[in-house]
Amino acid sequence: MSEEGPTIEPMTEADIDATLAIDLASFHPRDIGGERAAREKNLREELARTWARLRVARGRAGDVLGYILFWHVADEIHLLNVAVAPAARRRGVGRALVDDLVASSRRERAAKILLEVRASNEPAVRLYERLGFVRFNVRKAYYSDGEDGVEMVLELGAA
Ligand SMILES: CC(C)(COP(=O)(O)OP(=O)(O)OC[C@H]1O[C@@H](n2cnc3c(N)ncnc32)[C@H](O)[C@@H]1OP(=O)(O)O)[C@@H](O)C(=O)NCCC(=O)NCCS
Repeated sequence: MSEEGPTIEPMTEADIDATLAIDLASFHPRDIGGERAAREKNLREELARTWARLRVARGRAGDVLGYILFWHVADEIHLLNVAVAPAARRRGVGRALVDDLVASSRRERAAKILLEVRASNEPAVRLYERLGFVRFNVRKAYYSDGEDGVEMVLELGAA
C-alpha cells in the first residue's frame, strides 16, 4: 500500500481468487452462503448483476487488500459486504473502501446508504460510526444463529 492509501478499483474476474481468500478468512460460511464453491458462484453472480457493484482495494503491488460489495436500488445504496485481509487490517483499508463508496454515492445522487451488521461485530460498527453512519433499528434474531442485526444508515442529503 502506498503512503496515500490503497487504490480503489472495480473488481474484475481476475480478482475473484484473492477476494475469495479474504472472504473465507473474514466470514463464517453461514454468513456468505456456504463454503468456497458456493461463495465463488455467488461472487460471480454479483459481478454479473447490473445493479451490483464490487470494488477492490489494491496495495502498491496490485495485490487485493480488501473489497466492498453494494447494490444500487432506486435512490438507495445497500452496502452488503466489506472485508479486509486479516494481515492488512487497522491500516485504513476498510475506511478507504467505505469513503470511496460514500463519495461515489454522492456523485450518483443517492439519498442514503443502508447496511445491516451483526450486533457483536464491533470493528465494523465502529468503522461505520466513525464515517457518520447511525443506528436506526435492531432486528431481533436476524441471523440464523439468533444474533441481532443492527441496521445503520448514512443520509447523504442534497449536498
Ligand atoms: C470491519 C473491517 C472491514 C475493518 O477494516 P480495516 O481495514 O481493519 O479498518 P480501518 O483500518 O479502515 O479502520 C477504520 C476505523 O474502524 C474502526 N475499527 C476497525 N477495526 C477495529 C477493531 N478491530 N476494533 C475497534 N475498532 C475498529 C476504528 O475506528 C478504525 O479507526 P482507527 O484505526 O483510526 O481507530 C475488518 O475488520 C474486516 O474485514 N472484518 C471482517 C469482515 C466484516 O466483519 N465485515 C463487516 C461486515 S459486512
